[in-house]
Amino acid sequence: MDELDLTQLPRHIAIIMDGNGRWAARHGLSRAEGHESGAKSVRAAIEACRELEGVDVLSLYAFSTENWRRSQAEIGALFSLLSKYIHRELENIHREGIRVRIMGRREGLPDQVLKDLEYCEARTRDNRQMTLNVAINYGGRAEITDAARRIAREAAAGALRPGEVDEAAVAQRLYVPEIPDVDLLIRTSGEQRLSNFMLWQVSYAEIVTLGVLWPDFRKRHLREAIARYQKRQRRFGGR
Ligand code: FPP
Repeated sequence: MDELDLTQLPRHIAIIMDGNGRWAARHGLSRAEGHESGAKSVRAAIEACRELEGVDVLSLYAFSTENWRRSQAEIGALFSLLSKYIHRELENIHREGIRVRIMGRREGLPDQVLKDLEYCEARTRDNRQMTLNVAINYGGRAEITDAARRIAREAAAGALRPGEVDEAAVAQRLYVPEIPDVDLLIRTSGEQRLSNFMLWQVSYAEIVTLGVLWPDFRKRHLREAIARYQKRQRRFGGR
């Protein structure tokens, strides 16, 4: 395993946690059981970031605006898993000084899930060690569309002039405006798509795809992704 350069850590790591369904099929289990095993890998990702001290934000794609197309049974299993996870893990996360943020459209979420998620945010609001940004009912296009709608509304109300609409104005109206751009985007299971994830924030991210299915993800996989990231030269459009 490569030694990591602790002075060049990605500040913001985002993960598309892919492969729960395939993992379940390979093990003769239901898709819900695949997601349940996937939830355990979330702990590995958090631990690996905490150990590195210097990763400020970990973003996880838990439920996309497109995931509503899955069966009612699978959607129900994912939401009940989320609530279960919160009840089991929230106090650990809080003790570790992690701030939880929820990124996505809040309307459309089941009431109890929304309540649990908002409780997580409120409980951990003052924590400063790291931010865990969980994308739920999230789509990158929806996020940019919602920001555009807010801008239009403010302009119509006379609070904003068209000339004042610049990149910073859009960025300030994203779901979680305080987080920095993504430095490293990881996708598991070998797929090489963005799948509508953080389209605005990944503009200059390095993308690393890992062959491992999400339920098999361990701390060493995150370190491997960072090692690959550190071998890249980031140019941000310059030379
Ligand atoms: C993709 O695998 C995974 C998801 C759609 C859900 C991710 C959710 C979790 C890991 C569970 C809990 C999350 C938290 C933050 C506690 P897939 O079902 O698309 O897999 P496939 O492509 O192999 O079918």
